[in-house]
Amino acid sequence: MLDLKQELNPRLTAVLRCPVCGAPMGVSPEGRSLSCTAWVTARNPKGKTHLFDGGAGGYVSLAPHHSGGGDSKEAVRARSSFLRSGCYAPAAEAIDALVKEYTPEGGLVLDAGCGEGYYSGRIAAEGFPVLGVDLSKFAVDAAAKAARRERTEGGYDSRTLYAVGSVFELPVEDQSFDTLTNIFAPCAPVEYARVLKQGGHLVVAGAGERHLLGLKRLIYDDPYLNDPRRDLPAEGDGLTLVETRNVSLAVTVTDPAHREALFSMTPYYWRTSREGHGRLLAAKALETEVSFDLHVYKKN
Ligand SMILES: C[S@@+](CC[C@H](N)C(=O)[O-])C[C@H]1O[C@@H](n2cnc3c(N)ncnc32)[C@H](O)[C@@H]1O
Ligand SMILES: [Zn+2]
Repeated sequence: MLDLKQELNPRLTAVLRCPVCGAPMGVSPEGRSLSCTAWVTARNPKGKTHLFDGGAGGYVSLAPHHSGGGDSKEAVRARSSFLRSGCYAPAAEAIDALVKEYTPEGGLVLDAGCGEGYYSGRIAAEGFPVLGVDLSKFAVDAAAKAARRERTEGGYDSRTLYAVGSVFELPVEDQSFDTLTNIFAPCAPVEYARVLKQGGHLVVAGAGERHLLGLKRLIYDDPYLNDPRRDLPAEGDGLTLVETRNVSLAVTVTDPAHREALFSMTPYYWRTSREGHGRLLAAKALETEVSFDLHVYKKN
């Protein structure tokens, strides 16, 4: 049986707060769940304790509601398979470098919309405790299982904690993280500013204008460039832009399963004609540009 006292990083557990009443959280004595301290507050007038069970794979569910949202099992499986191919590794290295540059040694990192933890795991391997939060229980389950496998193989202490939760209502204390990463996932600037320490940094990654242009050339007669993200922090959100970098690389995807997985990760998946999809399946290899825009903001 899973013992959360052993599984969870105490520095990360210490900054969790109850998604129902907002009180601090701790591991229950038998080690199988997280619970909040029973406080009488306006949100919790009877001082009730709220319990959150750890999943068998080692993640905890801290979603504010039973949302059942986020990516499906199939989407998570496809993305995991594609990311394991290593095609995005140079872009992931650029994200690792930014996090290292802007985070104090051993600082706490929150990966908001972490998916199956491809980027969170890499950041943790650099020595930063990472809390990964995602609305999809399938993604978080896969992330926690991968982290446990690595721990068993590598024998180092747990540096990650994965929780089902929403980026719009993060289950953590105010000003508790040094750095927040937000990679191809919804951006919630006001909530990110709340949880970042003063002087902490937000690293947002999204599609550059030529991201996956080769894929679009194959499936569309008239491919278009991507628009910039519209959900980035704006004036008044408490975050100031420090720098923007672009990482671009050319990739060739030969494995048809990886090609299909990459396609299913994109928004084009749902709006591509049967002919367009057919051209992708028939191609010997997919040659495409991969382009990540990386924005760094500082908490005022
Ligand atoms: C395109 S995936 C990116 C995952 C990961 N960051 C990566 O790049 O591999 C977007 C992720 O955002 C998650 N997501 C969508 N809405 C969310 C929300 N409101 N709160 C937390 N996660 C959310 C999805 O479940 C999905 O895992
Ligand atoms: Zn509570």
